[in-house]
Amino acid sequence: MCGIVGYIGKEKNALRILLNGLKSLEYRGYDSSGIAYFDNDKIITIKEKGKIEELEKILDYSIKSNIGIAHTRWATCGDANKTNAHPHSCGKITIVHNGIIENYNELKNQLQKNNKKFISETDSEIIAILINKYYEEYQDIIMAINKTKEIIKGSYAIAILCEDIKDKIFAIRKDSPLIIAKSKNAAFIASDVPAILNYTNKYIILNENEIAILTNQNITVLNDKLQQIKKKLLTFKGNITDAQKGNFKHFMLKEIFEEKDVIKRIIKKYNTVEKLNNKLNFLDKYNSITIIGCGSAYHVGIIAKYLIEEYANIPVNVEIASEFRYKKNFFDKKNLAIFISQSGETADTLASLREVKKEKIDTLGVINVPESSIAREADNIIYTEAGPEIAVATTKAFTAQLIIMILITLYLGYKNKTFTKDFLNSTLTNIDNLEEEINNILNKSYKEIASKIAQAKNIFFLGRNIDYGIALEGSLKLKEISYIHSEAYPAGELKHGTISLIEKNMPVISIITKEHIFDKTISNIKETKARGSFNIVISNKQVIDADINILVPDVNPILQPILVIIILQLISYETANLKGCDIDKPRNLAKSVTVE
Ligand code: AGP
Repeated sequence: MCGIVGYIGKEKNALRILLNGLKSLEYRGYDSSGIAYFDNDKIITIKEKGKIEELEKILDYSIKSNIGIAHTRWATCGDANKTNAHPHSCGKITIVHNGIIENYNELKNQLQKNNKKFISETDSEIIAILINKYYEEYQDIIMAINKTKEIIKGSYAIAILCEDIKDKIFAIRKDSPLIIAKSKNAAFIASDVPAILNYTNKYIILNENEIAILTNQNITVLNDKLQQIKKKLLTFKGNITDAQKGNFKHFMLKEIFEEKDVIKRIIKKYNTVEKLNNKLNFLDKYNSITIIGCGSAYHVGIIAKYLIEEYANIPVNVEIASEFRYKKNFFDKKNLAIFISQSGETADTLASLREVKKEKIDTLGVINVPESSIAREADNIIYTEAGPEIAVATTKAFTAQLIIMILITLYLGYKNKTFTKDFLNSTLTNIDNLEEEINNILNKSYKEIASKIAQAKNIFFLGRNIDYGIALEGSLKLKEISYIHSEAYPAGELKHGTISLIEKNMPVISIITKEHIFDKTISNIKETKARGSFNIVISNKQVIDADINILVPDVNPILQPILVIIILQLISYETANLKGCDIDKPRNLAKSVTVE
């Protein structure tokens, strides 16, 4: 996905405002960027390949402009180069776009038959061409935008400038996020809140196919029948420090250090049986659960499956959203479908939600970004309230999702009488006291371990039961920020073929926290060790066969995953740091995959 920013205001410092906005959205995509602004009566467009700093170097900030749009790209259609960078223009129209136009080939062929020349390889360019085509026909920008939205299919968040209308910016969205914000003398468009927090925390949510018209005085919104509608002005609860690194070298490290505060913030709302009941009693009518998500959110589902089945005695099915939406699924009314997503905009998860809703199955969103698409479309919503997560690799949002799933486990287990009220109360207290154990983990150094694995070409993560779910997330964290290939494997499964890959000194990171399978996993470690592996073991007990033993505080087993995952996040962070990787903005990745 990509990042979009738009500004119109009394102050003539559009270039600086737009570039600052882009930089705060760089985690959304960073292979090329561009800006378009009014310079007197002309729209000037400047684009550059590479990170935003490359664009920043070529801009002349002495130019006084009070209106412009900008874009930072994560290439989905067309190479990452200057020509394909946004903004794209045609005639009087200049646009920036986040999303995918699914029928662009068909539309492009039709237009090329009428000798329309295309400059870029992108799908987005067709939006500028169509709006301009209909603007020339109707001489009415709203009609042109409306006609274009009827023709294009797919996902889009679009900001539009028209050279004949130098005191307005136009915007429209479908399936891709877009925020419209308002300060005293300006209006803003942004793909996400961090881009506007320096200027205002007042914003409105643009619903699907509504058209926003921004001037420096007000925001007008038209519904899909082009009737003017009123919109509620929301206040963003976070603050700008959420979107700043502070004294940390990377957002990822800052967000790892925030995890204990996030847990405190969540548990405050659930720290008694009464609060738990009040918040979660809507779960009473379900006797099975399906959890759907992507990437790390899917891993939360895997861990939650083990927890809920063991501690609440309820069957749980976990699905990768991109698989779920295209396969045969079976539903019953007593099943609750839980959609886990930090951004609330992941295309496959959102599409899966819509599939499930068609079957009239109840849905719950466990979501971090307020008012995001999944948050607004799920029947029920539990916000993880981790605050804006800027680093592409999720940490605090993952932990927040896990805490919510642990609370759901506790509620269901207590309701199903699988444990006593005393156990419930003591576990809620344990969650409240996790801070101390987390601080002990944060105060340790993982640099030495990082030095042992940083040069590895391949690494295995092993675990059984819930430790396998944790291993999946540990492996993904390492891969996405250090670019070391790793694989998480059920410890007992390795010997069925994959053990052939074990070579001398290959690091194998094993997680063993479950007492009843402790010896089994030790046997698997011995099997890899016998083939020369370098064994790092994360466990609540000393393991003789380990080359490095990382002791995890022996806490309530339900909470053990939280501590282990923080250790794995730190190991990944230190390894990537040692390798000089771009930790907050890893290559090829984007924070929220709003395309299929
Ligand atoms: C997490 O580190 C990854 N960047 C990625 O797997 C992410 O978890 C996945 O894309 C799902 O995103 P979501 O939680 O916003 O839906």
